[in-house]
Amino acid sequence: MSADFAGRTVLVTGAAHGFGRVIAGAFATRGATVFVCDVVEGELAETVAILGDRGHGMVVDVTNRKAVGRWVEEAERYTGRLDVLVNNAGGVLGQIARPVEEVATLEWEGVVAANQTAAFWTSQAVAPAMKRAGAGRIVNVAGSPVLGPDPTGIQAHASAKAGLVGLTRQLAHELGPFGITVNAVAPGLVLSNDAVRSLWEGLGHDAQQDRLSGIALRRLGTPADVAHAVLFLASEQAGWISGAVLPVDGGR
Ligand SMILES: NC(=O)c1ccc[n+]([C@@H]2O[C@H](COP(=O)([O-])OP(=O)(O)OC[C@H]3O[C@@H](n4cnc5c(N)ncnc54)[C@H](O)[C@@H]3O)[C@@H](O)[C@H]2O)c1
Repeated sequence: MSADFAGRTVLVTGAAHGFGRVIAGAFATRGATVFVCDVVEGELAETVAILGDRGHGMVVDVTNRKAVGRWVEEAERYTGRLDVLVNNAGGVLGQIARPVEEVATLEWEGVVAANQTAAFWTSQAVAPAMKRAGAGRIVNVAGSPVLGPDPTGIQAHASAKAGLVGLTRQLAHELGPFGITVNAVAPGLVLSNDAVRSLWEGLGHDAQQDRLSGIALRRLGTPADVAHAVLFLASEQAGWISGAVLPVDGGR
């Protein structure tokens, strides 16, 4: 991947670890100034240290519209432009799968807010600058529920990611006339956080082999696999792709 992001301003949410950290690093390595945020302060600081001079971190809860607005304003004030937004924050927020009748209101709302609503707030915040520039890239990190059942078994995660794809398609049409593309990646299982690791370990050897044999490339993905797909959708080369959902799952 040789996409050059020199002079570009890139925002990545949920960058304290996992995909977000690797995505932020991939843009910084290619010359971008990268603004990262997360709710986990310590690990966010580690990400900023990895990014070096090109990294700027802020503790932001992306479900908070005003906080998102302040973060985006800061990036625009500092660099005078907003080129790429990657909506990566989310995941299962430490929850485990439970029967539908046992899920509490706050559990449902928390996962939907972080995985879906937050992408609306961030998109809303970057849209004016991208419209003025007549260019922009928004890449949403969805997930396999778009293509089948959610491996986490968490109803809110499945629903939020499907909703995120709906938002992707809708914003692609709304913002396309302004030169802004909006796409999503749909990663398969990647052992990038404790929740996914314990899910994988809980399967046991035979079920793990079964899962792997259902993947064309016979391996789980890595955060770098996901980052490369995001880089592509954010690149000049993806200029006529919008409203797309790119599976990054080793082939099914
Ligand atoms: N790992 C997988 O197998 C997989 C598969 C498909 C999709 N995904 C999605 O990819 C994204 C990244 O996943 P990951 O595996 O790197 O998980 P992760 O838990 O390592 O990263 C998610 C990050 O989002 C942050 N976050 C959560 N809520 C936030 C909020 N309200 N405000 C700011 N930051 C917040 C977390 O603190 C965390 O750092 C998530 O959206 C997840 O749903 C992951």
